[in-house]
Amino acid sequence: MEKLPLFLILFSLAISMAMADSNEVDEWFGNLQHAKERTTRLHFYFHDTTSGKNPSARRVAQAPSTNKSPTFFGLINMMDDPLTEGPEATSKLVGRGQGLYASSGLDELSLLMAWNVIFKSGDYNGSSLTILGRNPTTHPLREMSIVGGTGVFRMARGVVTLKTYFFNSSAGVAVVQVDVVAIHY
Ligand SMILES: *[C@@H]1O[C@H](CO)[C@@H](O)[C@H](O)[C@H]1NC(C)=O
Ligand SMILES: *[C@@H]1O[C@H](CO)[C@@H](O)[C@H](O)[C@H]1NC(C)=O
Repeated sequence: MEKLPLFLILFSLAISMAMADSNEVDEWFGNLQHAKERTTRLHFYFHDTTSGKNPSARRVAQAPSTNKSPTFFGLINMMDDPLTEGPEATSKLVGRGQGLYASSGLDELSLLMAWNVIFKSGDYNGSSLTILGRNPTTHPLREMSIVGGTGVFRMARGVVTLKTYFFNSSAGVAVVQVDVVAIHY
């Protein structure tokens, strides 16, 4: 058999993968006018660890003035936090919370969060939600917007609320309860 150059193999692989993906989305789109709007409610916890041997969140940038700011203004962290069914670290993994949070308040400790919730188990395995919003971490309840989704959650919109379950600043550990109300098709 004639040997194809590697780049050609990779190129045709990429094209066939893209076609498979777009066909699935095309099919979904074709049925969309008959699809009924659904509401899904979810409840899980994320574990954000900024220190120790295996931190799940890392400081990636800051302003020259961040260290002098009482609210860490300008600090940007990238996270890949485990999401679990219950609040214990050993609880069943349901997905990952990947994205960034940036200190965006000059006078109040407040984060701008832009993150994807990627589900890794059950009916939602492989689907994701994209969340954008403000997280004033000391408030008992914070609310953010679902701005979109993939897979089961295509064209999702909705609301996510966060409640701190456990926080230890010297250990750099936060466990946060997440409640999702997603409207999708
Ligand atoms: C989720 O889907 C991936 C890819 O299809 C699969 O490898 C994995 O076993 C699934 N996980 C669960 C818990 O169903
Ligand atoms: C918080 O973390 C510190 C440092 O790891 C530890 O010594 C302390 O016991 C922890 N406090 C709580 C309430 O878990």
